[in-house]
Order: sequence, then C-alpha cells, then structure tokens
Amino acid sequence: MPDTFKKELLETVAQVRGVLEDFLTLGIREIDFPELPGELPVCPPETCGIDHGGQGLCRSESLEEIRAELEDCRRCPLCEGRKNIVFGVGNPNARLVFVGEAPGREEDEKGEPFVGEAGRLLDRILFAMGLTRPDVYICNVLKCRPPGNRDPRPEEIEACEPYLKRQLAAIRPEIIVALGQFAAQTLLRDQSPISRLRGEWREYQGMPLLPTFHPAYLLRNPASKKEVWEDMKLVMNRLREGQGGGA
Ligand code: URA
Ligand code: URA
Repeated sequence: MPDTFKKELLETVAQVRGVLEDFLTLGIREIDFPELPGELPVCPPETCGIDHGGQGLCRSESLEEIRAELEDCRRCPLCEGRKNIVFGVGNPNARLVFVGEAPGREEDEKGEPFVGEAGRLLDRILFAMGLTRPDVYICNVLKCRPPGNRDPRPEEIEACEPYLKRQLAAIRPEIIVALGQFAAQTLLRDQSPISRLRGEWREYQGMPLLPTFHPAYLLRNPASKKEVWEDMKLVMNRLREGQGGGA
C-alpha cells in the first residue's frame, strides 16, 4: 500500500472514530442511514455522464429517461426550424452503435435517423454485416436538423453532445462506429481529416470507437465503399471476439 494512501486511511479512521465518540457524548446510540434508492451499481464516473454530486454512485439512466429530459428541447437555435427531434433508434442493449452527424430533411420529417438515401445505404451495409436496424443503435451528434443541412456549429454541438454522451453511457456498446468526419472529429476531439482517422481503433469514454466514411460520402464516392467494408470487417471481427456473435 503506498504510504500516502496509508496515511489518508489512518486519518479517515481517526476522523470516523472522532465522529462516533461525539455521538456517544451526545447520547446518540443509533444512526439512521438513509435508504439507497434501489440497486445502485457503481458507475465509472468517466463513462456515466450523470452528475454524481461527489458521491461516486449512480443508477445508469435509461434511454427513455434521457429522451424525456430532452423533451421539447430549446437549448440551441436549431429548435426553431426543426419538425422533430431525432433522438435515435434501435436496441438499447446494442453491442454496436453508429453515430452520424445530424438529421437531414427526411429524418427531420420522420423523427428517425438515417431514413433517407444515406440511410438506405447504411441499411445495406448492415445487411452485408448480417445485421438489421433492430440489432444495433443509430443516432447522431446533433438531434435537430441544421437548416439546409449546413455544417453543425460549435454552440449546437456544445448544447447537444452531452445527450449523445449520456446515450452512449446508457447503452455502453462494445463498439461505436463514427460515421463521417464530423462525428469522428467531434467524438475524438481530433481535427484530423476522416481519410486519416478512418480504419484505426480509438476510444470514446472507455469504449472502442472506429471512424469510417459517412454513407452520404459513399453515395458521392462509391469507390470508397471498399474501405468502409474493410472497416466493417474490423468491427465484425471484434464483435466475434466478444461473447456470442451477432450484435
Ligand atoms: N446523415 C446523418 O449524419 N444522419 C442522419 O440521420 C441522416 C443523414
Ligand atoms: N467528409 C465527411 O464529412 N465524411 C466522410 O465520410 C468523408 C468526407
């Protein structure tokens, strides 16, 4: 045991003893400990996204709770132009999560991510991996459509990313795939171009993350599909190494 830790431990014991002796002097013989709310797993603070208030304990949130907190979100100006918040879809226990950029027109209409042309390509990629939408979870960095599909702005990311972080903490997938430059750069805090980021394993909040090209980019540059397929093979191998198979 390191000496500094031993010293802190002894000091703590001395403090506790002091408090208990005070209780005895005050005539307090029993202590009512407040009941902890249900089964509380200890949640690694770096992954949980909940303010612990310094207690180090938390109940992991459900996706429904996070969605309920977003409610009719007005935390950034994108709320003015949106039809629907596009929170995310799929399996709350997914082993694999895809994170895109932001909803487009069709996603905004339906309130569901990747339902346009890029989404149909994502479905085909999933199919080739032996997966379907309900096996995985799909969401975006931004939950509301930027007007005219312009690039997301820093203040929009700042307002919205905490919710993505909490979604990923709630699911805790075995693998996160960042679709495209924007998702990869945002999650990794790394401004390298996607052509450099893709295909290399990284980490987000302790979870393995693999950046790859965005399906919308593949629609314009079909030759890059083979690189995405190389990346998806890395994903499949890693899932296979984990328990079971399927996602
Ligand atoms: N592009 C994205 O990044 N996300 C969507 O949901 C649709 C298109
Ligand atoms: N630019 C992007 O934003 N994403 C890609 O996947 C490729 C180029």
